[in-house]
Amino acid sequence: MATASSPTGDGSSRNTPPRGLLRTKPVEQSIADTEEPEHALRKSLSALDLVVFGVGVVIGTGIFVLTGTAAKDYAGPAVALSFAAAGIVCALAALCYAEFASTVPVAGSAYTFSYASIGELPAWIIGWDLILELALGAAVVSVGWSGYVQSLLNSAGVTLPAAIGGGGSDGSWGFNLPAALLVLVLTGVLMAGMKLSARVTSIIVGIKVAVVLLVIVAGAFFINGANYHPFIPPSQHTPGKSGGTTPLVQALFGFTPSTFGVMGIFTAAAVVFFAFIGFDIVATAAEETRNPQRDLPRGILGSLAICTVLYMLVSVVVTGMQHYTSLSTDAPLADAFKAVGQPVFADLISVGAVAGLTSVTMILLLGQSRVFFAMSRDGLLPRTFADIHPRFGTPWKTTLLLGAVVAAVAGVIPLRELSELVNIGTLFAFVVVSVGVVVLRRTRPDLPRSFRTPAVPLVPVLSVLACVWLMINLPLATWWRFGIWMVLGIVLYAGYGRSHSRLGRTTDALGPRSGRE
Ligand code: ALA
Repeated sequence: MATASSPTGDGSSRNTPPRGLLRTKPVEQSIADTEEPEHALRKSLSALDLVVFGVGVVIGTGIFVLTGTAAKDYAGPAVALSFAAAGIVCALAALCYAEFASTVPVAGSAYTFSYASIGELPAWIIGWDLILELALGAAVVSVGWSGYVQSLLNSAGVTLPAAIGGGGSDGSWGFNLPAALLVLVLTGVLMAGMKLSARVTSIIVGIKVAVVLLVIVAGAFFINGANYHPFIPPSQHTPGKSGGTTPLVQALFGFTPSTFGVMGIFTAAAVVFFAFIGFDIVATAAEETRNPQRDLPRGILGSLAICTVLYMLVSVVVTGMQHYTSLSTDAPLADAFKAVGQPVFADLISVGAVAGLTSVTMILLLGQSRVFFAMSRDGLLPRTFADIHPRFGTPWKTTLLLGAVVAAVAGVIPLRELSELVNIGTLFAFVVVSVGVVVLRRTRPDLPRSFRTPAVPLVPVLSVLACVWLMINLPLATWWRFGIWMVLGIVLYAGYGRSHSRLGRTTDALGPRSGRE
C-alpha cells in the first residue's frame, strides 16, 4: 500500500497523512467502503447511460430560457460564442473531474475527491456547498418546470388558482403545488432504483433532444440573414449597479459588466453558465458504473461536448429567426417560432421543455442523494442515511429526506433570486476539484489514473482562473448568502461531523503523532 496514505502512527514519517481538520481519507479506503455489502450501491450503468444522464441533467432552463436574456441584454447573435466560452470553462473543469472520477470511482463527486486530496474540513465544506448546486438547483428547476406546465395548461384553457400555482402575477404568494408534486414523484422514482431511473431518464432525454433538434432543423428554414447584423453589437456603456446587485468585480475593482461588444460575450457566458450545470453530476454516479475508469471520462466529456454543440446551434438558429432585440426573455425558443408564424412548434417546444426540466430535476436530486449518502457513510452526517434499501439497492432514507425538504422549499420559497446561488455553489466546487487534482498528483502520484488531466498544472490553473472570473461577476447579495450558508455549514461540522467522523475515530485511535497537522 502506498506510503503516503498509510497512517503509520510512528510519529516519524514525512509521508503520514495530516490529522485533525485536514485529515484525508485514503483513496483505497474510499473504494473499500463501497464494497461493504450493507452500504454498496448496485453497479448497473454503462458509458451510454452516463451520457444520457449528462445530457438529461444539462439541457434545461439554460437553453430554454436564458438564451433570450443573454442575447438580448449582453451578446446579441454572438451569444453562440458565449455558449462556446462557457463550454470551454466547463471543459477545463470537466477534465479535472474526469481524472478524479476515474481515480476515485466512489459516490459523492467533489465531496469525495476533496476528502481524498485536501482534507476533511474542505470536504465537508464542499459537500455542504454542493447542496446549493444540487438540492437548491433541483428546487429552482422544478419551479421553472411548474411555469412551463402552467403555460401549457393555460393553452388548454385550464388556469390553476394562484394559491396553489406559486402565486399571482401581482407578486402575491402562493404554494407552488406542481413544483412540489414533481419533486415528490421523482423522489419515488429514485427510491425505486437506478435502473428504473435510467430508463425513465432515457425516454425523457429522447423527447428533449428531439425537440432541441426540431428547433435547429425546422428553425433553420426561417433564418433571415439580416438578423445577424451586427453579429457582435457595438459595446454599450453600462451604468454601475448599486446595493446587493453590484457584482463583486465592480465592488472590488470598479469594473462594470459589459453590455455587447467582445466583453459582452463573456458577461453573457456567466449568465448561460447555468445551462451547463450538471455535467459534473455524472461523476456522482461513479460507484454505480460498471467500468468507471473507462466510462466516466467518456460520460462526462461526451455529454458536455454534445450539449455545447446543441446550444451553439440553437442559439445561432434562434438569433437568425428573430432579431436579438425582439427575443423574448421568458420563452425565447417557443416565441421565436410564434414570431415567424408557427405557433404549433411553440407548443411542441413547451412539451420538450417540460420533459427536459423533469429530467434535470430528477438527476439533480439523484446527485444530491448520492453526496449525502457518501457524507453519511463517512459519519459526517448521521450514519442511518447511508442505509441501502434491501430490495431496490438505493439509499432510500437519504433520498426520501431530501425529496421532502426540496419539495417543501420548491413549494414555499420564491426562488428566482436564489438561482445565482446555484451558480456560485457550482463554480466553487469546480475550483476545489481543480485544486484537488494538483494536490492528489503530488500526494498520491502512485494511484492508477486511467484518465489523466492533460497539461497539469496548466489546465487546473486555467480552470480555477476561469471559474473565479465567473464567480466575481456574480452580485454581492449572492456572495453574502453564499458566505452565510458556508458559516452555517462550518458550525454544523464543528457540532456534529468532526466528532462523528469515521475517519477521525480511526486516526484518533492511532494515538498522537508529530506529522503535519
Ligand atoms: N443545466 C441545467 C439547466 O439549464 C441546470 O436547467
